Amino acid sequence: MTTSAPNGRIHYTKPSITDLEIRYANDAVTNGWGERCYEYIENFERQFKMHLGVRHAIATSSATGALHMGMAGLGIGAGDEVILADINWIASVAPIVHLGAKPILVDVLPDTWCLDPAAVEAAITPRTKAILAVHLYGNLCDMKALTAIAVKHGVHLIEDAAEAIGSIWHGRRAGSMGAFGAFSFHGTKTITTGEGGIFVTNDDLLYERVLTLSNHGRARGETRQFWPERIGFKYKMSNVQAAIGCAQMERIEELVAGKRRVFQAYWDALGQLPLRMNPEPVGTTNGYWMPTIVIEDCVPFDRESLLSAFKRDSIDGRVFFWPLSCLPSFAPHPQHTVSHSLSERAINLPSYHDLTGSEIMQVAGHVARHLGGTP
Ligand SMILES: Cc1ncc(COP(=O)(O)O)c(C=O)c1O
Repeated sequence: MTTSAPNGRIHYTKPSITDLEIRYANDAVTNGWGERCYEYIENFERQFKMHLGVRHAIATSSATGALHMGMAGLGIGAGDEVILADINWIASVAPIVHLGAKPILVDVLPDTWCLDPAAVEAAITPRTKAILAVHLYGNLCDMKALTAIAVKHGVHLIEDAAEAIGSIWHGRRAGSMGAFGAFSFHGTKTITTGEGGIFVTNDDLLYERVLTLSNHGRARGETRQFWPERIGFKYKMSNVQAAIGCAQMERIEELVAGKRRVFQAYWDALGQLPLRMNPEPVGTTNGYWMPTIVIEDCVPFDRESLLSAFKRDSIDGRVFFWPLSCLPSFAPHPQHTVSHSLSERAINLPSYHDLTGSEIMQVAGHVARHLGGTP
């Protein structure tokens, strides 16, 4: 028999909002206008740069917008190819399509669920302009191998770190290693501004280009008022959103620690069962945005039946992303066996920062019973 969640529903994520976020948002909405209308935005960008160890940051309305502007800034457009993993959220690929470039989907590694470097290298053509490294669910791409491929072939390596705040690759934070990085602050993410994102880079020239693009094509230093030198974008974060972001950045260590605590509790409860969870290879730290179980091939697994059991007990479960190649917008790639298997044999578990030990055991209990074990 299962018990209902003591406080009602167990959501798969929810933000951690304290008096600090409320105080800053209140201040922004009360005083953050006129000459003070960019104060929280500038502070948020400053805090984020310091946290990540990068030279430049532009707060945006979403990670999708940050990716779109960054790719436009790199000159990606019609006739270009961008390589990315088949199994991904649509937001990673949409900007490529919007720019008129061609996404080239390749398979992932079974342990990281991220780009398979050998598949990337095999997919390089004279039209390849960039590799998009998406750090899925907090798991890190093999940045050493991907950087070597990018350098060897003279293509850009971009990091979609939307899900990877808190993840560190051999001393360097996710999002700080590529030509540019993009993060999401959607309400489900480890830190949130409601909706929101950020573009980050160490490249001074790219920063200037994207800054101009981000301001409807109006260049810094242009003396004529309302003079766009090109067609740009409007993907700005508001000051009120940034106020919430400033509070979240002051609490970043606590928020990432919360995610890591939840992951560890799941692993302690489930690690003996025939499943894998998000990896943390030696020399790396995983921000564990979304604890995910992948059921081993050797045991039968009925994803829908487990999700139904969750649902009956007011627990939110999430299916792993679908392979993009199975969506109507893309050509099928039945040979991407790892992507297809992950999609069928994995689910994301609830993971908000203050999920209690008993709630974690309630979720783990369903998984264990489903696999014929005890947590
Ligand atoms: C990997 C990845 N990339 C990009 C995005 C897009 O982020 P946003 O919703 O802020 O545009 C998401 C959002 O969930 C994501 O998970």
